[in-house]
Amino acid sequence: MRPEVRLVGAGGAACPSTELVVRFSQRHLGASSLGPRYAYDFQPGLPDLTGFPRAQWIRSLRAVLREAPYGALGYGDPRGTTQLRNRLMTYLGRVHGAAPEPEHTLVCAGFTQGFPMLCRALADRGVERIAVEYPGWVAHRRLAERAGLQPIAIPVDEHGIDVDALRASRCEAVVATPSHQFPTGVVLSAERRAALLEWAQDEDGLIVEDDYDSELRHDRAPVGALQGLAPERVCYMARPASAWHRAYVSAGSCPRRGSPEP
Ligand SMILES: Cc1ncc(COP(=O)(O)O)c(C=O)c1O
Repeated sequence: MRPEVRLVGAGGAACPSTELVVRFSQRHLGASSLGPRYAYDFQPGLPDLTGFPRAQWIRSLRAVLREAPYGALGYGDPRGTTQLRNRLMTYLGRVHGAAPEPEHTLVCAGFTQGFPMLCRALADRGVERIAVEYPGWVAHRRLAERAGLQPIAIPVDEHGIDVDALRASRCEAVVATPSHQFPTGVVLSAERRAALLEWAQDEDGLIVEDDYDSELRHDRAPVGALQGLAPERVCYMARPASAWHRAYVSAGSCPRRGSPEP
């Protein structure tokens, strides 16, 4: 019996950090050992894993391993290699309308790893309160809290996050899902997008844009990243591989003022 070993992203249910999950192959153990199986699985946050491009992935890995200089096999830049960051930034600009700078970009193993790092950096700089959407993803609140920030719930309506309530909250940062609010699915309206950016400008605030599923758009045209409109005010956290597998990279890009020292 051969165990199937997979490195899963930090976003795996109830995983506080990236961890190695060892799962025995379904073929060997049988479906019942792996919990219930459904004809139609509506579990949120997990794309159709059968669409993962295994062959292309293996081909790319082989090519990289064949061509990488020995130096590339040692310790590298903790933000991710320059080549990877450059490639990701080009991609995020072209596909998501983001305007990240490779210098201020960090590749991590998922939002759940990157967001606490950002919250700790904000706490170190004296930020105390961060606004979170309500309803929203419970991890926004929990991760912020664990990193030493006080999360403040801001209501969401059919136009997205209520920016007047955000103003009244006196928060210095906000984490939001403008292109596809979780869990309501609403897209932040044009007026609210403008109001949110205005809030950041007026209050010297930071917007953390959680663009968690922007590549899984089936019901509407994709919305450009807010970060592309105000790179100095928005920290963009995207999962470029969301269409494939939640386990792979997330890339976050911070405006200069909020970025941790490399
Ligand atoms: C709102 C939201 N943000 C981010 C994530 C993804 O987190 P991670 O990149 O750690 O898998 C999810 C996953 O379910 C989510 O629902």
